Amino acid sequence: MAADRIVTIDGPSGAGKSTISQLLAVRLGFAYLDTGAMYRAVGLKIERTATACDDSGALARLLDGIDLQLQAAGGETRVILDGEDVSEAIRTPEMSMVASRVSAIPAVREKLTALQREIGGRGKVVAEGRDMGTVVFPRAAWKFFLDATPEERARRRVLQLRENGQQVDEAETLALIIDRDRADSSRALAPLKPAEDAMIIDSSKMTIDEVVAFMARQVATKA
Ligand code: DC
Repeated sequence: MAADRIVTIDGPSGAGKSTISQLLAVRLGFAYLDTGAMYRAVGLKIERTATACDDSGALARLLDGIDLQLQAAGGETRVILDGEDVSEAIRTPEMSMVASRVSAIPAVREKLTALQREIGGRGKVVAEGRDMGTVVFPRAAWKFFLDATPEERARRRVLQLRENGQQVDEAETLALIIDRDRADSSRALAPLKPAEDAMIIDSSKMTIDEVVAFMARQVATKA
């Protein structure tokens, strides 16, 4: 059934999810859904408007009025928030922590889960996040949980941020990654964890191409 033609890729930050999900999507001819970008965009809007997260009325108005669009552009996703391209603005270490914080708010998760199901519900999508296989698409045909050691994830994140021209310290990045994983895994709602039927892949000693090839084989054999 079309709705089941969904690949979910969950895992902690820096495990290589974004790169691998994008490459796999291209290889399969599927769309790519970056759900972390959605939490980041909501976090940016909350920050910019100085909305108090415990003011449920203000938060509901903000979420009701949000115009969030993900546009595919040459293999990557541009994030358009209320008509403005915020793709770069949401990718700072500060926004990572903000996104993690706002992602624990029930009203935010409810709004974004609905949006994600709307986008992914037609199938043929690689959906990347923390709760894709557990909550958003529990009936997905292929579920992966991508992990790597915190040290390896920090090393990759530093390389990625430096490539984007940002100044980062490796020890500080590792501390932030550990902090964020703890917050994402311990929250009450849709915590980061593998779905029971997910295939767990430790990418610490695998190249990106090896992981993508492995996943593509799994999809082909269980098509
Ligand atoms: O994947 P990312 O680093 O862009 O995600 C940013 C934060 O958003 C992450 O720390 C937790 C949250 N998130 C989430 O709670 N659920 C998702 N499906 C995706 C991201």
